[in-house]
Amino acid sequence: MNKELFTEFDPFALKAFDRLYPLLAELIPMKPSQKKELPYACKELSEYLTTDREFLSRPYWTSPRLLSAYFHYFMVWNLIRLCKLFPNLDLGTIPQKAVFMDLGSGPLTIPLALWISREDLRRKDIAFICADLAPQPLHLGKSLFEKLRQELMPECTWKIQTLRTPNHKAFRQIHEPVDFLTMGNVLNEGDEKKKISAYEQIRQLYENANQALAENGKIFAVEPGTRQGARMIQILRNLCVNETEEADEEFDEDFSDAAPHDYEDDFADDFYADEAPCKIISPCPLDIKCPLAKAHKQNAWCHFNAKADCIPKELRELSQKAGLDKDSVSLSYLYLAKSREADKILARHNTAEKARIISDAFPVPKYKGRARYACHKKGLLLILDSAAAPAGTLCEVSFPQKTERDFKSKALLCTLKNKNCKTLKELEIKESVPEKSFPDKKTKKQPAQKTAKTAAYSGQDRPPRSPKQSKGQTNEEKKLRRK
Ligand SMILES: C[S@@+](CC[C@H](N)C(=O)[O-])C[C@H]1O[C@@H](n2cnc3c(N)ncnc32)[C@H](O)[C@@H]1O
Repeated sequence: MNKELFTEFDPFALKAFDRLYPLLAELIPMKPSQKKELPYACKELSEYLTTDREFLSRPYWTSPRLLSAYFHYFMVWNLIRLCKLFPNLDLGTIPQKAVFMDLGSGPLTIPLALWISREDLRRKDIAFICADLAPQPLHLGKSLFEKLRQELMPECTWKIQTLRTPNHKAFRQIHEPVDFLTMGNVLNEGDEKKKISAYEQIRQLYENANQALAENGKIFAVEPGTRQGARMIQILRNLCVNETEEADEEFDEDFSDAAPHDYEDDFADDFYADEAPCKIISPCPLDIKCPLAKAHKQNAWCHFNAKADCIPKELRELSQKAGLDKDSVSLSYLYLAKSREADKILARHNTAEKARIISDAFPVPKYKGRARYACHKKGLLLILDSAAAPAGTLCEVSFPQKTERDFKSKALLCTLKNKNCKTLKELEIKESVPEKSFPDKKTKKQPAQKTAKTAAYSGQDRPPRSPKQSKGQTNEEKKLRRK
């Protein structure tokens, strides 16, 4: 059976999103002038969080207007992404009395999203440890959680413990094994002392995380679906599958002046001598070499888009005023579990036999319908006529008897298993295509169907489509397969 990655909000989540802005108004009251200023603050913070970090001299949490922008705009969009993703994640064995830990928790976005979207977890006794360098978002996030709980499910027994501490020190303050360790939009934050590279920081986090995990423990990390976000997730993935990092000039920072490291933790030298402590549950269907490992240098990276529907009207208005509205949200993520627990979850979903769709649908010359790329134990696939299966779907596929590959990407051609065609020939377009419609190298004028070159997946949240776009391809779809 095929399983989609994202879901619609259930009635509880819809109620929670309805109450979000009224509760934020109580927690972060704003004067009319501050309300007027909010869209500009969102725009400023957006630039800072994406491109202009070095120009911001102080952390964004100490500026009341940027803090307000984070809570009213970024936190809510992050909640929307996560509340669409979490319901379909198989969390395997979670004890009735469990310890969860969220690193770089900020306004407690991940704990809030888990609470809003997972009824099974709301009924457990969860001690949620939320760590962050900044006290302001932790304090406000905890108050927001308490208010939501009071209104929607006062009988819920979750205990929120906030720790004002850097991530690496947070591990020293826990006294019980962690059942679920989460990290949201924090891998890209860099080291607070700017002394170690992103790779080294993530490596240390991963080692600490493994030592902190319970027997059936799991790790979940999410980043924006941008090239940089996916790059951070890829580092974590490489550590998990014990693949060496390839030099990546664009992302490698210069840490030549940095001290070796001033952390006191002792990392076991033989950490990788044993079998890898964790396995990937999702999104990769298997621990294969990532088909996109090199592709991110060519404008292709692993991320998933979901429709941005059913969002609070306050968020829609604020996003429009800030010029940051979107009709889809995008994320990169990695979900890992201790090996034995991972094996159980993977077997339950027969994941090893399935493919994970990783792109939007796009036309392929010579074939009917629109195709999507997917990851599979055999490598990169191009699933023909698969527009109906949304990006992120874990699906069953059928291969033709004679192996055929896409001539540009070298992906294996296949179809969805439930497709009513026995051979790829049945999907071929019978009419001959007029000579003129093939790409003209000199003029570079190419009809939409013929622009295809290699896989490319642009990962920004997508702005709303113009009426003109809605009739044809989105910009993203047009970029697909362009070199
Ligand atoms: C972009 S915010 C993400 C907040 C929240 N997880 C979310 O997804 O909305 C990143 C958070 O990481 C925190 N942070 C950055 N570096 C950190 C570190 N070394 N240790 C702990 N927290 C850190 C920041 O203070 C900030 O709250």
